[in-house]
Amino acid sequence: MNHIQHVVVPGTFDPVTLGHIDVINRARHLFPRVTVAVAESRSKNGVGTTFTLEERVDLLREALDELGVSSLAGIQVLPFRGLLVDFCRELGAGGVVKGLRAMTDFEYELQQADLNAHLAPDLESVFVMSNPGYGYVSSSIVRELASLGSDVSTLVPVCVAAKLHEHYAVER
Ligand code: PNS
Repeated sequence: MNHIQHVVVPGTFDPVTLGHIDVINRARHLFPRVTVAVAESRSKNGVGTTFTLEERVDLLREALDELGVSSLAGIQVLPFRGLLVDFCRELGAGGVVKGLRAMTDFEYELQQADLNAHLAPDLESVFVMSNPGYGYVSSSIVRELASLGSDVSTLVPVCVAAKLHEHYAVER
């Protein structure tokens, strides 16, 4: 039996948080190659994303540089459109890694994992427990705080905090 060499860490990353970076680091700890896959997510929850696909990819690359993660061999960031299972197949990745923060994540993640297993039975879903320090951190919480003028510098990389500041300063 072959071991999985390459996994995908997918997400909308609108924007990337320190919780996401923690999951990416854990995935790289477990597997030699990690592709961070930024989904187009044109209508997540019926609404568009705050940042464009290109902005979200750029922020992720910048954040990984900033935190020294991209100096680890075997990590790349790519955008994708369409089904995650198709993207994994194109890359030849054998698994999908996602972080679980709380029970509330579980039902949603289980449903996605079941669907992906139905679409691609060979693709493994792997879950890592998020660092408890980031249990309450999500992109939507970060956007909400930043839009209300709160400091988010302990929740996101410096480049993301700056981007959020710029975004909501223009909006206000
Ligand atoms: O960070 P998110 O928004 O929880 O990530 C969700 C994501 C992007 C992983 C999921 O929506 C996804 O896989 N989208 C691609 C389209 C797809 O494959 N849909 C079927 C599985 S839900």
